[in-house]
Amino acid sequence: MKTTTKLLSYLMLIVAVIFLFSTCASKNGSAETAKTGINIEKRSLILTIGASEKLNFTLSPEAEGQAVTWTSSAPRIASVSNDGTVTALDYSVRGESRFTSSPATGTANITAKTADGKFEDTIIVTTTTQGTIDILTLPPMKDQFSSYFLIGNIFNRTDARNNEIVNQRLIHHFNVLTAENDMKPEYIAPSRNSYNFANADRMVNSAIASGFKVHGHTLLWHRQNAQWMTSMTRSSKENALAAMKKYITDVMTHYKGRIYSWDVLNEAFPDSVTENDDWTQVIRKAGDSQSPNPWYVSIGADFVYEGFLAARLADPEALLYYNDYNLDTIGKATMVRNMVRDVNARYRQEYPNERRLLIDGIGMQSHHNLHVSEAHVRRSLDMFRPLGVKIAISELDVLGQGWGDFSRSGGSGTNKQSGSSVTNDGIKDQAWFYNELMTLFIENADIVERVTWWGVTDSQSWRSAGLPLLFDSRGRAKPAYYRVIEALSQ
Ligand code: G3I
Repeated sequence: MKTTTKLLSYLMLIVAVIFLFSTCASKNGSAETAKTGINIEKRSLILTIGASEKLNFTLSPEAEGQAVTWTSSAPRIASVSNDGTVTALDYSVRGESRFTSSPATGTANITAKTADGKFEDTIIVTTTTQGTIDILTLPPMKDQFSSYFLIGNIFNRTDARNNEIVNQRLIHHFNVLTAENDMKPEYIAPSRNSYNFANADRMVNSAIASGFKVHGHTLLWHRQNAQWMTSMTRSSKENALAAMKKYITDVMTHYKGRIYSWDVLNEAFPDSVTENDDWTQVIRKAGDSQSPNPWYVSIGADFVYEGFLAARLADPEALLYYNDYNLDTIGKATMVRNMVRDVNARYRQEYPNERRLLIDGIGMQSHHNLHVSEAHVRRSLDMFRPLGVKIAISELDVLGQGWGDFSRSGGSGTNKQSGSSVTNDGIKDQAWFYNELMTLFIENADIVERVTWWGVTDSQSWRSAGLPLLFDSRGRAKPAYYRVIEALSQ
């Protein structure tokens, strides 16, 4: 009987030791996969195109101290560097693959091997156009681009509370903010000589308290005007001029010292202008494709100079911008160049002791799509450079498709539908176009002082159907984010 008991207790001891070993070994996740030699900790990886991740590994005593080499079975899907950093590619080389139908995603076997060739471990990396990494875990864009230009975005009422910005995504990545709507004429000047600054003040004060610069958008426009402004189309020149100058003076005085720069005039030219037009004759008027600029209709082309002059006199510190879209097109770019040239020449003549330009800068809104050419954006920058102005990329977004596809997918104007028709290739080519644009802006950083995106996540965008931004609706980085950052190292 004694022998049996002894035998039983030995048996139980052995079982306990085995159990103990297997439990503690599995705690570090290596038991089920632990092998002698080399062991890659992550057993599989899904990586967004453009993203990189370093693979950590352990060496067992048999392989201790050995050098490790890394290989990829599909180096154009996922490359791997000597230190085990995997980068998800997309079958393309910068500038080669736009509009091609190369598959954007795939899988690659990533293998780590010891120098003596005795041990190796392989995992599968799958690349995707979907976001996988959260926006708040990525290095701040404002810091990564700090030696080149300000990095901005738009904000709305819900982003500001208790005198601070509460949107962590804005705080993390951006250092200048533009009110998407709340500083537009219809909101702050609902009737002549009376103003409603409450919402805008709360937003502006919160932004400043949270360390942001604020860009004012916008004083003179053909859209989102208060009714009293729209009715100026029926006013005498004298009355309209007095009303415009007082409105600008009142608003700029109210914000004096708090607004870093202003869009004094927005979108003065219709899409139909050509490079042969006389800018003073083609500003938006009744009968154009969109509504007229009421100040132009009542005052004439002088409203441009008079508007900027009133702004300068009201707040001499603020940078004064002219802002417009489609400035990659030769017609609009030429009209803007000629207008800025002539207005600044008149200012120099009338204020010979003033060293500054009256129009300090041109805002290139940059609401782009995949059929816009980087060469045309470059051409416009080269056209504006001799003016001596600053450039702001003021409302950047890039549809993941061509304009025709976007409008066919039901997207138009302030479309808020879900983006169903953007393809994998569209997301891939969007990333490359963002890369081309950021490379161009870095090359021109001596005059480009700000790059502002018109939204943080696709679902927030005024044209969300085209998935135009760097982060998806869940706030995860798309390939476009990584290609924007990649421009820093090109
Ligand atoms: O404020 C009203 C709200 O009271 C009402 O309940 C709601 C009903 O639809 O409409 C709200 O107004 C909307 C406003 O955004 C605020 O959300 C307008 O309908 C809507 O048309 C307006 O869209 C804005 C658009 O400008 C108007 O032109 C977009 O948010 C804004 O992103 C967009 O921004 C413009 C820039 O200012 C200039 N460059 C082009 C850019 C895109 O259009």
